Amino acid sequence: MSFQIAIDGPAGAGKSTVARAVSEELGFIYVDTGAMYRAMALYFLNRHLNTDSEDTINASLDDACIALRIIDGNQHVFLNGRDVSARIRTEEVGMIASKTSKYPENRRKMVAMQQEIARSQNVVMDGRDIGTVVLPDAQLKIYLTASVQVRAERRYQELVQRGENPDLAEIEQDIAARDDQDMHRAVAPLRQAEDAILVDSSAMTVPEVVRKIVGLARERMA
Ligand code: DC
Repeated sequence: MSFQIAIDGPAGAGKSTVARAVSEELGFIYVDTGAMYRAMALYFLNRHLNTDSEDTINASLDDACIALRIIDGNQHVFLNGRDVSARIRTEEVGMIASKTSKYPENRRKMVAMQQEIARSQNVVMDGRDIGTVVLPDAQLKIYLTASVQVRAERRYQELVQRGENPDLAEIEQDIAARDDQDMHRAVAPLRQAEDAILVDSSAMTVPEVVRKIVGLARERMA
């Protein structure tokens, strides 16, 4: 049986940075499930589909083929054969992913793929519903969070380093809006699983968070 580590939490908590580092240290596969919802969102955006219409979205789900591949140790996401790993990283795509991930048919498709990947290999998987829905029997579940202010500040610094000129107040508002959307949807809302360990990274560095999770994983694997 495979060893599964589920890392859930709100946008900007550092899940992907931490999950990637944990997977490297343990030699596990890393699966960024948000990238899958983002690739679907990019498809809806490219096709100018009305994302308010659940019927429209449901009818187009089978036209979008999402695939994950590991290239040079990094996860790449493909949409109908094209590598869209960079193009899915915009705020616009993130908001559409958040909005359309509330549709049950969309989630069913993504969850089935995620469970198939984790069935036969050791994984670190991050998202919103990994510990609660996708991998309810994961041997280690982490709920990684940080305050809205800290998450906004981190995102701000990231954008500045990319040469952009972001507005901190706007980022804070976007993060709060996305939290609200992800936590209050009817299907698989973001919440801490009962058996998940809460890690608040507001006052922790990335290496500290990674060390903590790797330590917990090693204890449970022993
Ligand atoms: O983690 P992220 O910001 O890349 O995710 C984008 C959106 O996708 C997020 O706002 C909600 C949705 N999502 C989800 O509903 N379930 C997951 N397991 C991962 C992401």
